[in-house]
Amino acid sequence: MAISGSKNAALAIIGAAMALDGPCIIYNLPQVRDVNLFLEVCADIGATVEKVAPHKVRIDPTTISSPEAISPKVSMLRGSYYLLGALQSRFGSCKVTMPGGCNLGVRPIDLHIKGFKALGSDVDIIYRNINGEEIWFRYDGGVALPGQGEPDSFTLDPAFIHCKNPTGKMKPASIFLDTVSVGATVNIMIAAVKADGITIIDNAAREPHIVDVANFLNTMGADIRGAGTETIRIKGKPYLPANKEYMIIPDQIEAGTYMMMAPLTGGDITVTNIIPTHMEPLSAKLQEMGVGIEEGEESIRVYTKPGQILQATSIKTMPYPGFPTDLQPQVTTLLSQAEGTSRVIETVWESRFGYVSELNKMGANIVISGRLAVITGGTELTGSRVRALDLRGGMAVTMAGLVARGETVVENTSVVERGYEEAIRKIRSLGGAIDRFEELTGRSR
Ligand code: EPZ
Repeated sequence: MAISGSKNAALAIIGAAMALDGPCIIYNLPQVRDVNLFLEVCADIGATVEKVAPHKVRIDPTTISSPEAISPKVSMLRGSYYLLGALQSRFGSCKVTMPGGCNLGVRPIDLHIKGFKALGSDVDIIYRNINGEEIWFRYDGGVALPGQGEPDSFTLDPAFIHCKNPTGKMKPASIFLDTVSVGATVNIMIAAVKADGITIIDNAAREPHIVDVANFLNTMGADIRGAGTETIRIKGKPYLPANKEYMIIPDQIEAGTYMMMAPLTGGDITVTNIIPTHMEPLSAKLQEMGVGIEEGEESIRVYTKPGQILQATSIKTMPYPGFPTDLQPQVTTLLSQAEGTSRVIETVWESRFGYVSELNKMGANIVISGRLAVITGGTELTGSRVRALDLRGGMAVTMAGLVARGETVVENTSVVERGYEEAIRKIRSLGGAIDRFEELTGRSR
């Protein structure tokens, strides 16, 4: 089954495109809600966005005339934070609505802000009081989390972030990220891409899409080296001519999700259009569990060996090249069907086990203690009415429905569509019995 382009790479590349000085064409764009919404946001701020084909877009950011992205749509997306870096790169300032995204506990952006300050910007968090008036707070270091700005009595959510470089352009800097952050690494890279000199990011994230954004920007005229290692060096170029085409990498998380459906259902699945090295953290774990893996050049076959019983294992999510947090809910579902007791430790997000209560409703035996899940495997799952609480958690309960006895109804599946292209069609093409209900309007197929 063919894997789509990477959602998280697409969001970062669309964001980065806003800093260019000419048009670009992007291929292998996943058709998912978050990406489509982000393209809408970019068009709303003045970029010329043409969907040339379902998976191909032409973007011309030179028609953007103001560094402002103020809209409720911005707060519906996490990836919209890339506008902070891109608009500063382009205008030396920006005013952007606070980004949103899946609820995985606190999702701070202090490292992004630390980077922008190092690149010479003053950063203010702007709140609205009950009269709708704007109240500004200068961000002066420390951790100013969304909703936790000063003074202590302040309870309203922040409305915007305002960044302004007094010189009108970003200045180069050396930046050490205290925590490995995908978003901060990409955002600082974008913000620094036109700075007058060399910027170094240390303790950078190494995810495949960091490399993809760097490759994209380099194709468009930037000079970025070291992406994929923990030190990235960006030599600013005053002008990024663009006028080039770029193909987004395959989605490592979508591929991993479908790979796990094979052992879950006792099946045999080949995922194609992938980069097998990106899948190594998962492939290694699946092999440990007794699953058959055959790597091709751009494909992986995952199969159940005759007579093999799925074995329990322990998994700890880590930044790349560790086991991805974005596959944690799906692997926990798989382990609920393994023989023995498994342990899953979530080290990236403080609160990413919300879906477990839904799995337990279906008969799984999973006990959460802080960031640890202890899974007593091998329990039979029974079809139930469950809820998709977030993108990956929603896919995890959908997967559980594939092996549950009886019918499972997953509510709120629109969150799954934020990040999985045509999930229902793809699962059905693998043999899964899955359908979409529109409860208010009757059943539609
Ligand atoms: C990206 O989120 C992805 N989102 C997430 O995918 C993914 O889970 C995450 O990276 C980790 O791989 C997008 O690319 C749009 P981080 P991001 O900054 O960039 C802490 C999915 O399911 N941190 O790498 O927001 C943070 O609290 C989504 O597709 C700070 O402390 O993640 C977390 O513990 C969900 N300060 C850790 O770093 C900051 O300023 C990693 O976060 C930023 C992050």
